[in-house]
Amino acid sequence: MRFLLVNGPNLNLLGHREPEIYGSTSLQFIESDLQEKAEAEGIHLESFQSNFEGALVDRIHQSIGKVDGILINAGAYTHTSIALRDALLGAGIPYVELHLSNTQAREQFRHQSFLAAGAIGVVSGFGVNSYELAFRGLLTYLLAKQMTL
Ligand code: DQA
Repeated sequence: MRFLLVNGPNLNLLGHREPEIYGSTSLQFIESDLQEKAEAEGIHLESFQSNFEGALVDRIHQSIGKVDGILINAGAYTHTSIALRDALLGAGIPYVELHLSNTQAREQFRHQSFLAAGAIGVVSGFGVNSYELAFRGLLTYLLAKQMTL
C-alpha cells in the first residue's frame, strides 16, 4: 500500500515554532521517523509540505490512483479551507485528519474543521505521536476494508 503524508502551512517551522504548544521535534524528523515505521509495515510513505493552499490541492489531485490513503495535518487551513475539503472528497481517497495540539481545547476558531466530516477519523492532541496514531488508524481501517472485499 501507498500512503501520502500532507503537512500544511507553518508546519515546516516545527521545532522552532511555539514549542510549548507544538514541541521541539522538526518536521524532517517526523517525516523520516514515520517513513521508517511505515516501511516496517510494508507501506510506502511519501511526504509533502506546503504553505500554499493551491499547492496542497494540486498534490492531493496528483495522488488520485496513486495512493491508498492520506494523512493530513492541514494546519490553519483545517479551519478555513473549503478548497482542501473539496480536493480530499473529490480525490475519493480515505484520509485521517491529524493535529499535534488538541484543537478543541484551544481558541474557538480552531474548533471548526472543514475536513473532519469527510475523514475516517481525527487524531488531535498527542504531540508528535499524533502522526503515528493517525498512521496506525489509517492502516487498520484499510486492512479491515481489504478483508471485507
Ligand atoms: C495544528 C493546529 C492548527 O490549529 C494550527 O493552525 C496549526 C497546527 C496542530 O497540528 O496542532 O498550524 O494543525
